[in-house]
Amino acid sequence: MPARPTFDLVVAANRLPVDQVARPDGDIEWQRSPGGLVTAMESVMHDQAGAWVGWAGEAGAAPAPFEDSGIYLRPVALSAEEVRDYYEGFSNDTLWPIYHDVIVPASFHREWWSAYEKVNRRFAEAVVEVAAPGARVWIQDYQLQLVPALVREARPDVRIGWFDHIPFPPVGLFAQLPWRLQLLEGLLGADFLGFQRRADAQNFVRACRELLNAKTQRDTVTVPGSDRRVRASAVPISVDFAGLDELARRPETIARSREIRTSLGDPKVLMLGVDRLDYTKGIQHRLKAYHELLDEHRIGPPEVTLVQVATPSRERVEAYRTLRDEIEQTVGRINGEFGQIGAPAVHYLHHSHPREEMAALYLAADVMLVTPLRDGMNLVAKEYVACRYDLGGALVLSEFAGAWHELHQTFACNPHDIEGLKQTILRAITTPDKEKRRMMRALRRRVADHDVQRWAARFLGALDIAPERPSLDPSTGHHHGDEPDMRSNEARGMTQ
Ligand code: ADP
Ligand code: F6P
Repeated sequence: MPARPTFDLVVAANRLPVDQVARPDGDIEWQRSPGGLVTAMESVMHDQAGAWVGWAGEAGAAPAPFEDSGIYLRPVALSAEEVRDYYEGFSNDTLWPIYHDVIVPASFHREWWSAYEKVNRRFAEAVVEVAAPGARVWIQDYQLQLVPALVREARPDVRIGWFDHIPFPPVGLFAQLPWRLQLLEGLLGADFLGFQRRADAQNFVRACRELLNAKTQRDTVTVPGSDRRVRASAVPISVDFAGLDELARRPETIARSREIRTSLGDPKVLMLGVDRLDYTKGIQHRLKAYHELLDEHRIGPPEVTLVQVATPSRERVEAYRTLRDEIEQTVGRINGEFGQIGAPAVHYLHHSHPREEMAALYLAADVMLVTPLRDGMNLVAKEYVACRYDLGGALVLSEFAGAWHELHQTFACNPHDIEGLKQTILRAITTPDKEKRRMMRALRRRVADHDVQRWAARFLGALDIAPERPSLDPSTGHHHGDEPDMRSNEARGMTQ
């Protein structure tokens, strides 16, 4: 039997970058997996040799490991019960609501926790199998919070990093979890923990101090019962700026963006929303504001129209099913009241699209509506900016998206304030082009400077030097791993 390959860089994420989909004729097809994590990690992994451990998206036996675009994919099997209890249950009906401000209530079930533990152990075993001696192991997101400690136990030789793609909750919310201590201990198995915002890292450090009685100093936690130190810092994720910029400039993308506008009846103002169909994204708030603007005759089709792309997500979790019904009803109501023949007020698309089509949509949109109630980062906001090489467009961005802490020249909004959101949308429409171009130029500078390649380099750099606090960067006077300019929005008075 040939020796199993091992790698110096191993990524572990709940999903592989591709999902196995069974076609009606029984054949297997591979499709790109949904979500920002895959978008970001895929572009990072294409630049280096490594393995990716993850679930192939279907219940049952795991396919054999295989290579895709130069990445060694090591599938992890989940049974139908594990999909229900570990993925839909504990990950997305317990942790997800707690980590997103309990926008919907969280459910606690002991058998879901048992499945979470069991599946995390299976992921850790797969990581151990493909990690070369001294490898860097990069564990992703809330579904795998026990994996760092499990890998450390089996393989003290490897460097272990974990990145949180979603918010980390304040201790008052986190403390509700009956398994809070096990989760913190699981994470403290890492050498370095990365978060989207400074506040997320601080929430984690505070949870360790208050719930584990751990000694903490600034961004460092001393693991109780040892002298090992773990650093927890903000390393905000980003997009492949150069790749998206290049895609948006292609003549075929530009032609497609024109075609999109023409097929929508050449509106004066095209507004766009692009989200996974998730209650955290504030789609209902956005539709409510839009509905009221139509009702008050402030805007209306055919001059103004809205395209809402809502990717199917977690459709067997009840809160997601309810949300889909609500949104589809609302869209139906708005179109019934305000649509005209050939000119609906909302164009609703409930499926995924190729990257090329997404870029054309971004390029076509005059106003991009990103209005989450809570979002770790929101890569859609950064993708929009990266595609607007023409300096056109306007970004309406919620203060509750991680991206707001970096993107200052936006039309910022509080999506809970419907009246304020309406005013912000109108401002995004009516602000003179010259001013909007100035804003977009500044946004593009920020995203170009802080792209996904830089994010990955910063994360892996911090992992390499952990647990020592990094030296001062002589060029900036800031510590490596800090985001000096990220503080400015917080300094403007927001606390989240
Ligand atoms: P999340 O990780 O919560 O889904 P993000 O905004 O960070 O949210 O990332 C979403 C990613 O999914 C982006 O890369 C976006 O381009 C992609 N995406 C969203 N909707 C679609 C769609 N309908 N088709 C293809 N890609 C999509
Ligand atoms: O970080 C957000 C996230 O939950 C990722 O972990 C995940 O890949 C993505 O959103 C999509 O969600 P799901 O994998 O549950 O479809």
